[in-house]
This record gives sequence, C-alpha cells and structure tokens, in this order.
Amino acid sequence: MRFLIVNAAQVLSFQGPDRPRAGEEMRKVGLYRDGAVLVEDGKIAAVGLRDVVMRHPGADAARIVDAGGRILLPGFVDSHSHPVFAEPRLEDFAMRIGGKSYAEIGAAGGGILSSVRKVRLATEGQLVERLVDWCLRFIECGTTTLEAKSGYGLDLESELKMLRVVRRASELTALELVPTFLGAHALPAELRERPADYVKRVCEDMIPAVAKEGLARFVDVFCEKGYFSEEDAGKVLAAGAGAGLKAKVHAEQLTRSGGARVAAKHNAVSADHLDRAEADDLEALRASGTVATLVPAANYFLATAYPAARRIIDSGVPVALATDFNPGSAPCWNMQFVLSLACTQLRLFPEEALVAATINGAWALGLGKTHGSIEVGKQADLVLLDAADYREAAYYFGGNLASWVMKKGKIVHSTSHMTPFD
Ligand code: NIG
Ligand code: FE
Repeated sequence: MRFLIVNAAQVLSFQGPDRPRAGEEMRKVGLYRDGAVLVEDGKIAAVGLRDVVMRHPGADAARIVDAGGRILLPGFVDSHSHPVFAEPRLEDFAMRIGGKSYAEIGAAGGGILSSVRKVRLATEGQLVERLVDWCLRFIECGTTTLEAKSGYGLDLESELKMLRVVRRASELTALELVPTFLGAHALPAELRERPADYVKRVCEDMIPAVAKEGLARFVDVFCEKGYFSEEDAGKVLAAGAGAGLKAKVHAEQLTRSGGARVAAKHNAVSADHLDRAEADDLEALRASGTVATLVPAANYFLATAYPAARRIIDSGVPVALATDFNPGSAPCWNMQFVLSLACTQLRLFPEEALVAATINGAWALGLGKTHGSIEVGKQADLVLLDAADYREAAYYFGGNLASWVMKKGKIVHSTSHMTPFD
C-alpha cells in the first residue's frame, strides 16, 4: 500500500545525525513548508518538498492523502511510563492536596505499595483490558510508541503477570509498547526490613525469569532514598546486563541519590527525572551518551521543583521528554501537555521540546534508527496536528490537536468521520 501525503503546511522531519540530538542540534526540526511524504509498505519512502517527492517513482500509483494545510510530524515516542495498574490513587491525591509529601503518603500505606496491593489482586485479563483502553488515549493524542514498565508486582509472579499484560496488550492495540522490567521500584511490604534479600530476588530470580520469557527489553531501578541505593541499583543493572537487558534509571528524583552516576557507569540508555542532578551528574551522563529523560508532568502533579533543563541541554546531554504516566505521580497520557510544560516550566524552545518528544524519545528506547523522525526507511509513524505552525503544538495546552495518527503506515485514529484519503 502506498500513500502520498500532500498539502501539509509544514512537515517536521527531524532529519539529522544518527544519534541522540544534543545542544544546538536540539533546535533543528528539519522543516519543509508545503512538504510531502510518501509511505510505502509501512515505511517512509520519500520526504521533502512536494515537487521533489512527487517525482519519486512510487508517487504515481500512490493514494493521495490531503493534509489540509496542517502540520505533519513523527508520532510522539513516550519513553517513560507505568501504564499497568488497577486503580487511580485518589486517596493519595487528596492527602497531597492536604499537604502531605510523596514520601509521607508512601509511609502512610499509600504510594507505590497501594498500587502493588491492587495489581496483585487483579487478573491478567482485567489488567490487559485497562491497558488497551489507556493505549487508545495515547494514540488519540498522537503517541505511536510507549515504553511500559512493570513495578507494581514486586514478587516474581506479579512482575511476570505485569509484563505478560504488556505483551498481550501489544497484540490488541496499534500502540507499540516497549516493555521494561522495574522489579526494583519499591521494597514489597513482606521484605520491608530485608532490602538485601529483595535485591537478591530481583537479580537472581526475577531478571532471569523475565529474560527467559523474553518479556522485557530494559531493566530499570528507582534509585532513591528509602527505595534502592546506588549500590543496589548497580547490582540490579549488572544482573540485567547479564541477561541482555539494557539499563534505565529513575535518578535524582526526590533526593540526590547517585542514580545518574550509576546510570552512566552502566551505560544506561536513559537516566530519568533528574530533578536534583548536579554538574558532576550531567558530566557523567554526557560522557556515557545517556539520554536525560525529563518528565515535567510528574513535577506538575506533585508540585515539586522542575529539573534544570536548560543546564542539562547546555551541558551537552541529549534530552527526551516523556509523560511518566502512572497513578501516583503523573496521571497524564498527553504528550502535547508535556510539550507545554517543557516550554513554559523547563524553558525549552518549542523546537527543543519537539525533538525531545520524538527523535530523542526514540533514542531513549534504543529505537533511534527506526523511529522518531520522518526519514527514508524509517517506520511510518506519523501524526497530523490541526495547526498552521508547529509551535502551536506547545502553545495551546490542555487539549488535543491530533487530527489523525498513522502507525506503520496505517491510519489508527482520525477525528474525521471521513477517511483522510481521497
Ligand atoms: O516515576 N518514582 C517512581 N516511580 C514513579 C511513581 C510511581 C508511583 O508513584 O506509583 C515516578 O514518578
Ligand atoms: Fe517513573
């Protein structure tokens, strides 16, 4: 099947070097005015100025898709989320409004462990159904690839259950899900006083079992005071590497805990949050080529200070943006809201925010060669935004500008009852 998408006021291709974009590179969106894109067998066959793309040998036989003077860009790659959960945490929400901190809510029996109790009780089928529903909301807002972490099971069976949920949901949704094993998310209640035993279970029982079933691509750890120390995190990441899982780290979120350092040491694909990161941390991440994934919706929702994003970009560390969708700190699936926060609160320019939400998100999942930009040979994951200028994507907030969304060359969402094809 061939489609020729024409009449886009702007095509943002994000063409560029074959690596995460850093520093000044984060300002380059690869813009074509009155651009066109040729899609063939689910991949990008040509992109550029309309006249040039029209001359491509495949263009003649293609079905025309009229973009109606709107904005075409790659689907968002949301590289950090915890989308498998049973219920929202509305008690936590009220406690926080009443003035309690994330740590205090956790200590009072809320927080991650309350989600764990619910996930352990839920069946695989129930969790699959919920996840598939969430996936639809991501797609409607223009996300075409989503990382999905475990971490609300915290025992072997429940962690495997969560990852099987992700695998089953993948077969039922157009959203591409990239699974991450986050057994080291919190200490389960039954091992609260025996952290070393739990780390041992994660490393010796869970990681091998996850790898054996091929259930995850990444291993992640919440390196944080009261959760997992830098040393624990090192053990978990090393065990993951031994089983073929690349590293991701929840780093320097609530306190400065050594997460960035351990991420760099283990060549993590990303270090995430970084609210408390300091200059040494940034230097370590830059040297290891680790992407800094910022999740400002979590700062917004917890009302905590935003990370020093400008300093991170200026220090040469590539930045990605993600929702961190989860029931505790970021119940938000809309990357367009994250773009707004990135610009207004992190002081990223719209160009930087868009790079961070697409191509750098792809690199934060090790998918930069196939996802995240509109370049020949890449997957045809696209979103058409109802705007005349790409900066509107970050300017309007609280809504959704996506007119249609394409995944691997198929329209998977459209606001129009008419097909977008002629
Ligand atoms: O990314 N920091 C740890 N994990 C999540 C929160 C998970 C939860 O509260 O359920 C985060 O913010
Ligand atoms: Fe998280």
